[in-house]
Amino acid sequence: MESKKIIVTGGAGYIGSHTVVELFNHGFEPIIVDNFSNSEKSVLVGLREITGRNIKLFEGDCSDPNFINDIFKVERDVAGVIHFAAYKSVGESIKFPIKYYSNNLGSLCALLEAMEQHQVRYLVFSSSCTVYGAAKKLPVTENTPVVTPFSPYGNTKKISEEIISQEAQNRKQLKAISLRYFNPIGAHPSAVIGELPIGVPSNLVPYITQTVAGARNQLTVFGDDYNTPDGSCIRDYLHVVDLAKAHVKALDYLFDQQEDPYDVFNLGTGHGNSVFQIINEFEKVVGKKVNYVVGDRRTGDVPVMYANADKAHQFLDWRTELSLEDALADSWRWQEKISL
Ligand code: NAD
Ligand code: WQD
Repeated sequence: MESKKIIVTGGAGYIGSHTVVELFNHGFEPIIVDNFSNSEKSVLVGLREITGRNIKLFEGDCSDPNFINDIFKVERDVAGVIHFAAYKSVGESIKFPIKYYSNNLGSLCALLEAMEQHQVRYLVFSSSCTVYGAAKKLPVTENTPVVTPFSPYGNTKKISEEIISQEAQNRKQLKAISLRYFNPIGAHPSAVIGELPIGVPSNLVPYITQTVAGARNQLTVFGDDYNTPDGSCIRDYLHVVDLAKAHVKALDYLFDQQEDPYDVFNLGTGHGNSVFQIINEFEKVVGKKVNYVVGDRRTGDVPVMYANADKAHQFLDWRTELSLEDALADSWRWQEKISL
């Protein structure tokens, strides 16, 4: 592969910004496309601090076909695309489904059209374990049946996977991978970039760090009466830096080896931790108490979800390297930095 240019839609966001760093570390030239609907320009300063370079940015809406097409016109020899840009709040998607279908599917369709027009062959897509719903058998493998997810957000991931798969089968030029993320947590160990939840966080770890930092009164544990060893829900939490590295591996695989036009990979640690285990581990790692109460179950939560990630290990040569302790320590270091 001659060109090293990788378009990173949503590259200013949480997972995108960490992936930009890893692309840079592996000799790629990441180009960010973002409208800052859920991120801040300050991330570019952080990326400059880590990489020592100004990362190129196109600011605008990926669902605008003219805007996205013009980027490929200007950049000409783009080697591949990683598509992160999407809205991701499960709760908001239930209130405003059209906002989610329109942005998440509109941006994908505009991108696929522009890629075809400019003969860009390789795509890595951000999908989610939410496509498995409440799986009957755990851990989930890529052969676990995909269901219609509970939320419109989750459904945009299922439909996006279908669109990409069909497009890759029909148009032999396209080779694509969907990466099904489990629960990314943590931040870059430099504490220069991390997750910037806007408003009240809905995810567990940012809620914990904000509670300990004093920005929230207390965490509510959503249910302690599940059929799990301690009664709270179990998830597969992986460090965002490990997750970011998987995208570089996925691109390398697409460039070098992939025979099938389309494939899917789970990205997780292979282990589950309960909400109480996360709280206990956080208290141990950080040395501070988490103020919490036990509340009702949250609608739509599945009791247990964790990955079998052997396929990513076998084909992408990827597995997680960082521990839960690393991730929680890095989350806290990042929280301290943004609380200043
Ligand atoms: P994020 O909100 O931090 O990043 C998404 C970025 O995309 C933001 O910078 C936002 O401004 C941008 N964006 C959104 N719509 C856009 C548009 N139309 N045009 C241009 N930019 C746009 O989210 P994240 O946590 O980094 O997630 C990245 C991707 O991974 C998303 O597709 C998300 O659905 C998926 N995902 C996330 C998780 C998770 O737990 N964070 C889990 C599974 C899948
Ligand atoms: C984790 C656990 C909660 C907050 C979501 C999306 C999923 C994917 C990842 C994008 C659960 C419990 C949480 C709180 C709590 N995203 N919890 N109190 O629900 O596994 O997945 O993010 O694709 O699609 O649904 O992650 O971090 O919200 O919750 O007790 O204040 O923590 O019940 O068991 P989840 P989460």
